[in-house]
Amino acid sequence: MAERFRGDIELEGVRKAYGNVVAVDDVSLHIEAGTFFSLLGPSGCGKTTTLRLLGGFLYPDAGEIRIDGRSVVHLPPHRRDVNTVFQQYALFPHMTVAENVAFGLEMRGVPKPEIRKRVAEALEMVGLEGLEERKPAELSGGQQQRVALARALVSRPSILLLDEPLASLDLKLRKRMQEELKALQAEVGITFLYVTHDQEEAMSLSDRIAVMKDGKIQQVGTPEEIYERPRNRFVADFIGTSNFVQGRLVHRNGRQGVVELVGNYDTPRPLRSWVELEGVSPNGNLLTFSLRPERIVLLPPDTAPPKGMNRAHGRIRSRTFLGTDFQYTVRLENGLEWVVLQPNVGTFPRFERDAAVLVAWSPQDMRLLEE
Ligand SMILES: Nc1ncnc2c1ncn2[C@@H]1O[C@H](COP(=O)(O)OP(=O)(O)O)[C@@H](O)[C@H]1O
Ligand SMILES: [Mg+2]
Repeated sequence: MAERFRGDIELEGVRKAYGNVVAVDDVSLHIEAGTFFSLLGPSGCGKTTTLRLLGGFLYPDAGEIRIDGRSVVHLPPHRRDVNTVFQQYALFPHMTVAENVAFGLEMRGVPKPEIRKRVAEALEMVGLEGLEERKPAELSGGQQQRVALARALVSRPSILLLDEPLASLDLKLRKRMQEELKALQAEVGITFLYVTHDQEEAMSLSDRIAVMKDGKIQQVGTPEEIYERPRNRFVADFIGTSNFVQGRLVHRNGRQGVVELVGNYDTPRPLRSWVELEGVSPNGNLLTFSLRPERIVLLPPDTAPPKGMNRAHGRIRSRTFLGTDFQYTVRLENGLEWVVLQPNVGTFPRFERDAAVLVAWSPQDMRLLEE
């Protein structure tokens, strides 16, 4: 197989239980060579277990794991073309940076001149030239993390597994390391399988993301796909913020339809919304939609809303200044409360608490969820 196609990962029906806790439940995934792929989900959803199965530290109860088309289930860790960076990166404190990075190669009996060359190369990749003789205690947290990365890269794996590698760093440093990791992956071109519970981190780093919950994959896609078209309530809630809107279909016209929204109390004038419907047939079903806060427009009550948009009367319940945006809570005429995000720029009108507003939203932004 050509060099540039190395690092392709396939999981098929993989399952792993600890006693009666099913940590990984029938997981099937294809991760193409050279992608920055993230496994994203809350603590305990099975991310680390998935990585350990791939790394060869655990044996699956069922299913198949292939790297570059070849089953690796029976291969020990050192015979897989994979290396791991753990959250607890545990450098040897008595060894220098160079010795830490060289350790794995020395254990495998790689000739000294070759080790020297590859250690220098790995340290350059992570921007640690000149610090070869330092001990871990003489490095910052970010530098130690880079040593751990160099140690994993020095064996030139075609796949790097990273288990929440930045979780112990403070926010500023974490942001910088994210950029460095992204650049490093683009440069070395190998597959990165990155585990995180931080949705912002996954969104900004990844080519593709798999969202996981209770050992099961919920959705796989690019960050945009997952944000714009969340499949279910869990994904819509975990990635960004959503208003969940329920309604009954009262009319259908091809791809579009009208739903009567479920309000908080009975009102003489029930609120209806045009929505986009994809592959939904039955009438009278209770449907659930996700509507993103930044897709809702607030206007002075006497304005005409943009053509084709749904509209409702509302009142501002609260306003929070977030710097780049204002976040409002708006109560609609049917008693629903929605969170609305409006950019802090002059072209968007500002509203005080209790102000009457016209609320407008597009049918296309009512994203139908499977539930
Ligand atoms: N060695 C173990 N023994 C028993 N249960 C475990 C073990 N490791 C993980 N688990 C359980 O398996 C589930 C998934 O864990 P894990 O893969 O570590 O999740 P994550 O990395 O997403 O936080 C959790 O319920 C966890 O408590
Ligand atoms: Mg974990």
